[in-house]
Amino acid sequence: MGAAVAELYNSRLRRPGVPGNTLKREGEFQMANKLVVQADLGKETISRHIYGHFSEHLGRCIYGGYWVGEDSPIPNTRGIRKDVVAALRKMKIPNLRWPGGCFADEYHWMDGIGPKKNRPCMVNTHWGGVTENNHFGTHEFLDLCEQLDCEPYICGNVGSGTVQEMQQWVEYIAFDGISPMADLRRKNGRDNPWKVKFWGVGNENWGCGGNMRAEYYADQYRRYQTYLRNFADNQLFKIACGGYGENYHWTEVLMRECANQMAGMSIHYYCGSGKESRSATQFKEVDWFHLLKAALKMDELLTKHEWVMNKYDPARKVALVVDEWGAWHQVEAGTNPGFLYQQNSLRDALVAGVTLNIFNDHADRVRIANLAQTVNVLQAVVLTEGEKMLLTPTYHVFEMYKVHQDATLLPARLDCGKYEFGGESMPALSASASLSKDKKVHVSLCNLDPNKPQELKVELRGMKAGKVAGRVLTAKAMTAHNTFDKPNAVRAAAFKGARAGRLGLTVQLPAMSVVVLEIS
Ligand code: AHR
Repeated sequence: MGAAVAELYNSRLRRPGVPGNTLKREGEFQMANKLVVQADLGKETISRHIYGHFSEHLGRCIYGGYWVGEDSPIPNTRGIRKDVVAALRKMKIPNLRWPGGCFADEYHWMDGIGPKKNRPCMVNTHWGGVTENNHFGTHEFLDLCEQLDCEPYICGNVGSGTVQEMQQWVEYIAFDGISPMADLRRKNGRDNPWKVKFWGVGNENWGCGGNMRAEYYADQYRRYQTYLRNFADNQLFKIACGGYGENYHWTEVLMRECANQMAGMSIHYYCGSGKESRSATQFKEVDWFHLLKAALKMDELLTKHEWVMNKYDPARKVALVVDEWGAWHQVEAGTNPGFLYQQNSLRDALVAGVTLNIFNDHADRVRIANLAQTVNVLQAVVLTEGEKMLLTPTYHVFEMYKVHQDATLLPARLDCGKYEFGGESMPALSASASLSKDKKVHVSLCNLDPNKPQELKVELRGMKAGKVAGRVLTAKAMTAHNTFDKPNAVRAAAFKGARAGRLGLTVQLPAMSVVVLEIS
């Protein structure tokens, strides 16, 4: 399967709109950068859930990141930080995956309900070997989702749990009648059931979730999902645990054995860090180039997994769910290596920008995605230190791109030059376009070249560009980042580099920038 898929990908006519797509043919001269957007031919909806996030019991993500407890001097609502909630609401967070990650497959939800003083503690063996007091459990998570106004996405325990345990969790959350689990929920202070839609059946079950083979997991998936019941109008969207990166075998087995029993199948892919330095903030162009090239690989991975899925599900009923993605740098000096706390620079913003453009472009199959992780872990959108909070460059990209949520993807064809470094190259630009319900066209653009500004002609077909406005995220240095002393070193600003003319727009993109235009 692997070789055949590779050959097909290399020979295929690439999708329009994604960075790998250039119109340049052999023997032609380098053309000017050009984006053609078909404003009247949109078909697919960009699911808002591809702008989703992930929060694990890992380091300071939950404890300190979201949860400070009711008695904390840090302003909170029922123990949950107000500043973090306000920031994520502004970014329009659509869903939140929890409790892991690797933690999910050793989490026993019943330890996290009832009076906090009675909750047993456990060792978080994956992440620093610290003691988990279970003060943040099901009620606190679902309260957080209500405060965020987002959909919960719960990942159940297959690795060390039982079918009964997972079945009862759903009953506890979603059953409205008289039953042992619904009664227990009421006893713990919640009368009405919650709504929960997205439900993951295990996490990385090929690794930390039980070291299973695809064939064994497929059978386990069939068994577990049987007992995940729909109560009244609470319809579960069941997500099977998929493979990592290029593991097309796992996708093949799962699709072959259980495509008709799942609503989604997940994959994970982390694009890593730099080549010579793994520091989040101290790196050179070689590292910038290396990381962005790895981020662009997402398009190839999605395309190949989709081909396998298409074999068994040509109607595209099963969603491809990228429920962990992002950059993975070395931890910040002096922090616990098990806590995965990293800074976040303009380079990470570019990783987010190109990845989200790729997800948009795969809207026909990719319907949920979750950046790892929301607060204080990996490619976080928010960092906290005591009562202080900052928004990372990655946050600003999500906030700028929120205009694409639930909009109609517009077919777009990008013809652009290359960004070259050390004898290698990648497309200098990445683009995606959508049409909002109120008939505005939004175009998100990334200039991956850290040295050269780029001029881009945008031809709009099926629409006359009247007004254009925009925002830009850039900085003087590729390593620019926000600190608690300078929290606004990198932030979105008004963009003045787009002009509407008779034939469309002319856009002057600064080097290493992310721009979102609104055309009406
Ligand atoms: O996000 C950190 C870890 O990366 C998750 O727990 C795991 O699923 C993945 O390997």
